[in-house]
Amino acid sequence: MSPQNEQWSSRYGFVLATIGGAVGLGNIWRFSYVAGENGGAAFLFIYLACVFLIGVPLMIAELAIGRRAQGDAISAFETTGKTSRWRGIGWLGIVTAVLLLSYYAVIAGWALRYAVGAVTGTLWRAAQANYGGYFKQFVSQPVDPLIWQGAILAITIFIVSSGVRQGIERLNRLVVPVLAVLIIVLAGYSLSLPGSGAGVRFFLAPDWDALRNPEVYAAALGQAFFTLSLGMAFFVTYGSYMPRTFSVPASAMIVALGDTLFAIISGLAIFPAVFALGGNPAAGPELAFVTLPQVFLKMPAGVFVGSVFLLLLAAAAITSMVALIEIPVSAMIRRTSLSRRGATIVMGGSVFVLGIPSALGYGVLSHVRIGSHGILDAIDFGVSSFLLPVAGVLTALYVGWRLNRTMILNETDFGTRRIGVVWLWLIRILVPVAILGIFIRTLWAS
Ligand code: TRP
Repeated sequence: MSPQNEQWSSRYGFVLATIGGAVGLGNIWRFSYVAGENGGAAFLFIYLACVFLIGVPLMIAELAIGRRAQGDAISAFETTGKTSRWRGIGWLGIVTAVLLLSYYAVIAGWALRYAVGAVTGTLWRAAQANYGGYFKQFVSQPVDPLIWQGAILAITIFIVSSGVRQGIERLNRLVVPVLAVLIIVLAGYSLSLPGSGAGVRFFLAPDWDALRNPEVYAAALGQAFFTLSLGMAFFVTYGSYMPRTFSVPASAMIVALGDTLFAIISGLAIFPAVFALGGNPAAGPELAFVTLPQVFLKMPAGVFVGSVFLLLLAAAAITSMVALIEIPVSAMIRRTSLSRRGATIVMGGSVFVLGIPSALGYGVLSHVRIGSHGILDAIDFGVSSFLLPVAGVLTALYVGWRLNRTMILNETDFGTRRIGVVWLWLIRILVPVAILGIFIRTLWAS
């Protein structure tokens, strides 16, 4: 099938594939540490506002132009408007996706390494409960992290080479329902531990004072963009495989709800256990790799529960990596003479090479600092605090002000319904103003 004709086989397959792309390390690893560092429940409140007032309208915008263009990220920003001046947004999305993928693959590699270690038992034996040392020892090696980064990229290449339906959709139909069941079971287990109440309160009882802290807003907006996969032409790309018969607003709502529920349930799996067993909820990026294994070792049946958790983390990472690499791959297939397989291999190889500095940034290259950040951290900071908000503002301006009003209301399936006008004004005013406001406030503070 030529890429122009590739399409999802059903609504269900499309929604699962899109949720699989959105649910990833961001929901489990990143959400829990960002929420932990920003006061838990106070953060959650602002985060939810960002998801539904800024995230969902932008997701609708991206899906609509993707479906209309039925092309790659670049053409979606030229064929929908009357000029091609805005196609830079498409390029920006593709570049951002490749940058994100370069270090996402490194962390996903750690998750895979931990999952394999947990299942084979080496993780539980070797560490002697000193997971801080264990983690440092692993990430500072010159070769090991590269092997796992390569392994997870190889799996990704294999799946994406098989096509939109046969590869991407099939993987997600299999994995996403399993992830949903597992995370619910884990949360139930964690909530049943004696002393779990403190974790629930930390996570769900709002501390309104934190609303005065500007950093919490920036963290919440950055997390909303990251977890919903916005600003990277992801929905443009997956929307291009969407038939006209699937509703854009309904799809966006289901994906946002699914992603948010997944993050909240992960929080209910992580915080109660961390509090019940005396870990530090604000441990930062190491939460999943240092704090949690320690917590698992102290739990009844912890070896089993911990293995399940780490497998889940790795599987969620793979479904997101597949989505991420599909963004440049889809553009390459449509714009060059490469086959899907060729494009995936070229892109996968490039991502591997690009990610090497991030992978070695904890060992051989640990002397390289960019400001106060290490390499991986610095790229993550640049992507989530700079590139994503910029792409979000530009997309909102393009869709809200540049495109023909009647056309875009039809393309979003709102037509003449009143809710469409609400959406339009969110996209025209609230989304750009809120993002710019938070953005400028953060620059000011730093
Ligand atoms: N949402 C993904 C996560 O939570 C990460 C992500 C950001 C992503 N942008 C993306 C995944 C684009 C796929 C496509 O881990």
